[in-house]
Amino acid sequence: MTTITPTEPSAPTSEVKLPYTVTLIPGDGIGPEVTNATVEILEATGIPFVWDLQEAGADVIPLYGTPLPDQVVNAIVKSRIALKGPIATPVGGGFTSVNVTLRQRLGLYANVRPARSLPGVKTPFSGVDIVVVRENSEDLYSGIEHVVVPGVVESLKIITEKASSRIARHAFDYARLHERKKVVAVHKANIMKLSDGLFLECCKRAARDYPEIEYSEMIVDNCCMQLVTKPQQFDVMVMENLYGDIISDLASGLVGGLGVTGSANIGDDVAVYEAVHGSAPDIAGKGVANPTALVMSGIMMLRSLGEMEAGMRVEKALYKVFTNGKHFTRDLGGTATTAEFVKAVIAAME
Ligand code: NAI
Repeated sequence: MTTITPTEPSAPTSEVKLPYTVTLIPGDGIGPEVTNATVEILEATGIPFVWDLQEAGADVIPLYGTPLPDQVVNAIVKSRIALKGPIATPVGGGFTSVNVTLRQRLGLYANVRPARSLPGVKTPFSGVDIVVVRENSEDLYSGIEHVVVPGVVESLKIITEKASSRIARHAFDYARLHERKKVVAVHKANIMKLSDGLFLECCKRAARDYPEIEYSEMIVDNCCMQLVTKPQQFDVMVMENLYGDIISDLASGLVGGLGVTGSANIGDDVAVYEAVHGSAPDIAGKGVANPTALVMSGIMMLRSLGEMEAGMRVEKALYKVFTNGKHFTRDLGGTATTAEFVKAVIAAME
C-alpha cells in the first residue's frame, strides 16, 4: 500500500493503493491531445495506473443537463486524485466555470503553480524559480454579484481568517518541505485595509511558526513590477485568489508561457492536477499542442503519490528534450507535433 505523502505539494494524506486509480478528465479543445500525451509519458515510467475516464464541459450538457455531472465529482472523491485537461467556459453568460465549480465542490483550497526557467526555452530572464501558492476558495471568486440599481453592480470580496490562515500555512509547509528559503505575502492592504489586512495578519501569524523561512510582504502592483524586472528575487509567493490568478500567469510568462507550467489544486481529501492553459480552440485537433504543462502537473502528481524517482525521470527527460532543442512545438518556436514531442520525451527517459 502506498500513501499519498505531502511531498509535492502538501497533498491529501489519504491512502491510495497501487495500481493508482486516477480520474482522467480530458476536457475540451486540445484537452484530449495533451491528456493522451501525458498519459503516454506517465505510463512509460512503468508505474501502474488505472485511468477512470470522466467527461465534463459543454459537450456533456445535452446528456446530463450540466457541464459537471455528479458522477465526475463522485469519481474524484473516490479516487482522491485527478488529472484534468482544460475546459472551456463561455464568456459573459452561459454556465459557470467548471473549473471554479470543481474547486468549490471538492474544497480544493490551494492552487500551487511552480514556474521555473527551462533549458533551451528563450525568455528575457534565466534563473527564475518561483512557486505561486494561490488561495482558491474565496475572494472575488465567491461569485456573489448583484445589480444594486440598474447601472450599478456589486461584487463581493470575501476574505476569512480560516481560509487565509489555511493557505498561509500551506505556503509555509510547502516552503519547509522543499527547503525553500523565503515566503512573500502579496497584498493590497494599503487600500483594502480590512480584507487584505486580515489576510496579511494571518500570514504574519503563520510566519512565526516557521522561523527558518524568511517572511516578507509586498504590495501587488509593486510585486508585478518587480516580477518583470528582477524575478530571481522571488521564491514561494502566497496570495489571495484574484492576485494569484493574475500573478501565476505572469510567472508562467517569465519561463515560457502557459504551455510549460504545471498546476495542482489541493484540498484536504483530494487533489486535481491540471494544465494551466485553456482549451486553445485555435489549434485544437491539429496535433500541434504542447503537452508540457500537463506533463509538469503529472510530475507533481507522481511526487504526491510518493513516486519521487519516476517524477525525477520524467522531469529529467523533459529537460533533456528542451536542452536538445530539436523537438520544440510551435508555441516555443519549433515545428514538432505533439506526437513527435512525446516520442522524444519517452526516448530520453532513463
Ligand atoms: P488558451 O490558453 O486556450 O489559449 C491562449 C493562446 O495560447 C492560444 O493562442 C493557444 O493556441 C495557446 N496555447 C494554449 N495552450 C497551449 C498549448 N498547450 N500548446 C500550444 N499553444 C497553447 O486561452 P483562451 O483562448 O483565453 O481560452 C480558451 C478557453 O479555455 C476558454 O473557454 C477558457 O475559459 C478556457 N480556459 C480553461 C482553463 C482550464 O480549464 N483550467 C484555463 C484557462 C482558460
